[in-house]
Amino acid sequence: MSQTSSAPGKMILLGEHAVVFGQPAIAVAVNLRLRCRMEPATSSTLNGAPLSEISHSYVHHAIRLSGHEGPLALTTASEIPSGSGLGSSAAVSTSLLALLLSRRGSFSGEDVARKAFEVELAVQGRASPVDTSTSVHGRGVLIDNAPGENLLWRIQKDSREWYVHHCDVPRLTFVIGFTGIRASTGPLVAKVKRYHDRTVFARDIIQEIGQLTREGITRLRRGDAVGLGELMTKDHRLLTILGVSSPELDRLVSAALPDSYGAKLTGAGGGGSMIALTDRPKQVSEAIRLKGGIPYEVAIGEDGVRIEH
Ligand code: PMV
Repeated sequence: MSQTSSAPGKMILLGEHAVVFGQPAIAVAVNLRLRCRMEPATSSTLNGAPLSEISHSYVHHAIRLSGHEGPLALTTASEIPSGSGLGSSAAVSTSLLALLLSRRGSFSGEDVARKAFEVELAVQGRASPVDTSTSVHGRGVLIDNAPGENLLWRIQKDSREWYVHHCDVPRLTFVIGFTGIRASTGPLVAKVKRYHDRTVFARDIIQEIGQLTREGITRLRRGDAVGLGELMTKDHRLLTILGVSSPELDRLVSAALPDSYGAKLTGAGGGGSMIALTDRPKQVSEAIRLKGGIPYEVAIGEDGVRIEH
């Protein structure tokens, strides 16, 4: 019998990259979902092709970490463009883990979040739990380095620990601009790590992103679009200094700004996507399209991973 699950994409509002070094981050789930169907089979396949450890690394590690043995036919269908910085890899891991872990009853969000984080570590080398935990919980997520109100779970790796909290999401309108350039997260995270380890300057920038994210939490809670937008634009400048923006991302951010409260790259950067906070989504979408980007007007606060009935 086949079973289906789905998981949302996400966008990071503030704090990407710095979160890998223990600084806070805020992310929200968006209404672009990935669906995963699992059926018993005589050989393991993904979308009809033989499952490969190299080409399908997230799926391979998710199956391994779930403890499942035996062949499976998997089919995915995604509204989240892959390599876009919108959490498509996390959605693959969480939707598949939810299916595998629910075979013996219901799954626990915390268990899926932990295992999906391990999958990211195995594939990327370094990661924070921001993508995977947002894909599991949905709505809004605040990652911090200490427990607070609305704590969901704590995730630890070596000396680093992250406290994952639920975060209420106010009504705000965002437009995503995908550059069309697929960038992989691992090399960008490694580049920032080298910069961080070699210079005080990079460490200061990461601290500054952390400080700005802390201010962002208060502004988001108040639904203060002007204040949050200002911080997003500042964050984009800091991420540019860290070397993770690109000419295409900068072009889309500049195009969106005249009609936005703020705009920034989201996710790992180097291509992928930017986001703009605006109350003129049509104008911003058009400006993004004119500069060669692919706009998505999204709703935020979408449900997390679930089994579809
Ligand atoms: O994989 P992406 O593009 O959604 O970005 C992940 C966010 C980073 O902070 C760059 C890495 C991480 O694991 O937190």
